[in-house]
Amino acid sequence: MKILLISNSARGHAIAEAFSRSPQKPEIIAACTGRDPGMMKLAKELHVVDINGLSKIVELAKATKPDFAFIAPDDPIGAGLADRLESIGVPCVAPQKNLARIESSKSFARNLMNKYGIDGSPAFRVFSFSSMDAKRQLDLDIRHYLEYELKGQYVVKYDALKGGKGVKLSGEHLSTIHMGAKYAMECIDQCGTVVIEEKLTGVEFSLLSFVSGLKTVDMPAIQDYKRAYIDDEGPNTGGMGTYSDANHLLPFLNADDLKAASNYNAKIAEALMKECGEPYKGILYGGFIATKNGVKIIEYNARFGDPEALNVLPLLETDLVAICQSIIAGTLSQELVKFSPKATVCKYITPKSYPEDKKEKGQRVLVPERIPDDVRLYYGDVSMNDTGWMILGTSRSIGVVGIGDTIGDAEKLAQEVCERFSGPVRFREDIATIESIQQRVDLMQKLRGR
Ligand code: AMP
Ligand code: GLY
Repeated sequence: MKILLISNSARGHAIAEAFSRSPQKPEIIAACTGRDPGMMKLAKELHVVDINGLSKIVELAKATKPDFAFIAPDDPIGAGLADRLESIGVPCVAPQKNLARIESSKSFARNLMNKYGIDGSPAFRVFSFSSMDAKRQLDLDIRHYLEYELKGQYVVKYDALKGGKGVKLSGEHLSTIHMGAKYAMECIDQCGTVVIEEKLTGVEFSLLSFVSGLKTVDMPAIQDYKRAYIDDEGPNTGGMGTYSDANHLLPFLNADDLKAASNYNAKIAEALMKECGEPYKGILYGGFIATKNGVKIIEYNARFGDPEALNVLPLLETDLVAICQSIIAGTLSQELVKFSPKATVCKYITPKSYPEDKKEKGQRVLVPERIPDDVRLYYGDVSMNDTGWMILGTSRSIGVVGIGDTIGDAEKLAQEVCERFSGPVRFREDIATIESIQQRVDLMQKLRGR
């Protein structure tokens, strides 16, 4: 059994670790952006390649003949790597380009929801233009929509992949109607369309599902801390940390909220099948917000989240290789997927100036020794040099995951290990603390009028 794993972050390390626990003892052929220390330990072969150079990966697949490929990051999925690999007979756990538009095009995603009666969208409109004259009118229409229909409470979304940096919110990144319209026009200039939607208030969470055509099997729900700094201040990041609870729910959600999110994932898989005429095979990541009017859809991703994969994969008691085989064969079932009833907390160690600067690139980070059994380290944008030192890149460095009976236990474990790192790094101490979770519970209760 040979698996080609395409990875650019700690998410790939967590996937490789879950593969390596398989009784099928797969050989992992890793295609990575750097000398990834996690992959160096787990993979039979590590190939440092540009993971967006699709032809290079196709050549690697031809040379290594894997049984299947697992594509972890969004960019190669969005660019159609699954189509290219499948055309040479390598099945993929990742959707084809057409299906991956659920992540790579915000307008495709919202229009799909409308077309198939999936009612979780906020109010939204897609704007685009075809001539210079129309542009002036478009600018006026956008201003009118922002000011009079959305009453200044808006979100402007770049209509293509932009590393999590294409979404700007009123009151946070855009303080006036003029700024909102200006950014919307910039988006249109760059990619032809822009999605503008109502800004929702509530508490966000993620629900990821394994998907094979119409069959979806959910993972534990997760909450991500996207902002760079303590108390949810600063710019958005890929995620500074995450937690999940032992009952696979979250403290601010009820069972009906989770059911609503689960139904949305199933309906999206069905709508994609109808729209594209092909089964979606891979991971579907629903980004939701619990509001006073129930659960709404913020976005969809066509892959595992990072750090979300670091929470759920260590809890997977069943065989990830068998799950992937069943996704490819169309035989995915609930029985193949079992997660242990434990809570997890992930805190990311990042370079000190992340995400605003890159000053620490090339400097050394010292990883603590004597890591407890119930703490896992997943290596992201760090590489091991010839002397065995861990060298920082520019993005999130090492995901520290505590696993415990309660969120409190898991948080203490992760925190204790994070405090022992040294070098020019930082982490968010407030991730999954009792106080921080209570704030979310209180906000939800207030919104629900209790
Ligand atoms: P996205 O890339 O669509 O997930 O957007 C990034 C972040 O922007 C989300 O995690 C939310 O925090 C925020 N966001 C996106 N859409 C909305 C919305 N309609 N209302 C409120 N916040 C939003
Ligand atoms: N943690 C957010 C993401 O992976 O998109």
